[in-house]
Amino acid sequence: MSRTSTHVVLTGAGGGLGRVILEEVLSRPEVSRVTAFSTRPADYIQSLNFSKTQQALKKLVWVQCDFSNREENFQALLPADGPQECPLVLIHNAGSLDKNVPGQWVESSARTMWEVNFWSALRLTYLLLPGMAPGSHIVNIGSMGGFQGSVKFPGLALYSASKAALACWTECLAAELADRRIHVNCLALGSADTDMLRHAFPGYTAPVTAERMGRFVADFALYSGQLFNGKVIPVAMTTP
Ligand SMILES: NC(=O)c1ccc[n+]([C@@H]2O[C@H](COP(=O)([O-])OP(=O)(O)OC[C@H]3O[C@@H](n4cnc5c(N)ncnc54)[C@H](OP(=O)(O)O)[C@@H]3O)[C@@H](O)[C@H]2O)c1
Repeated sequence: MSRTSTHVVLTGAGGGLGRVILEEVLSRPEVSRVTAFSTRPADYIQSLNFSKTQQALKKLVWVQCDFSNREENFQALLPADGPQECPLVLIHNAGSLDKNVPGQWVESSARTMWEVNFWSALRLTYLLLPGMAPGSHIVNIGSMGGFQGSVKFPGLALYSASKAALACWTECLAAELADRRIHVNCLALGSADTDMLRHAFPGYTAPVTAERMGRFVADFALYSGQLFNGKVIPVAMTTP
């Protein structure tokens, strides 16, 4: 399988880890196209100011989309000419974290998190699956909070449960797609220095920068798809 025509689809491309992943995948010559989903408008691309990839921005297709909106029609948002019949690397990175008061929930907040963290991955994956070629790799960005047996923290019940659902779906979908040679893995991330982490753990200093974690995710998604399948992999040095 030639890797010269890999098409990457990335969600949550504008902020935190997503912005780093976006710059990394754009910089790789084997990536022919990147479809980036973001809540931000397309003119946000001008402000990205990527140091090594100004030229590579030609490969970028920007799709503005709010995953918390159940009515959003992903099919209508996607460009008509793709992605079709090429190895696809699909990175479900978009995430939403709204802390709950311990022992309580606000249904609207929980629904937003589940729409962004879980349902958007399902909806986008099942939309793209018919055109995915053998060798494709689906990477779900999970969390240590949703990793079975990990330390749990008050206020993150509804967020962590959505990530646990994503992890379980990873294992199940991998079994269903194995015959098509489409692999599915989940990276259960520990702390990386982003807005989300600062919101979840105020005052905590993350041991890993967004750049380092984002580069790891990009490399894993592009190059480790044939080495792992159906795995939920903890990527964490510390708790949280
Ligand atoms: N940082 C950590 O320590 C950590 C730990 C465990 C797991 N994670 C996971 O890693 C992923 C990236 O998180 P991050 O730390 O980079 O957080 P972040 O800075 O908050 O970025 C999350 C991105 O998700 C997208 N998003 C949020 N709400 C959305 C919505 N309604 N519709 C569509 N997209 C939406 C946004 O992308 P745009 O800005 O492009 O709209 C946002 O920038 C998430 O899945 C998160 O759960 C992070």
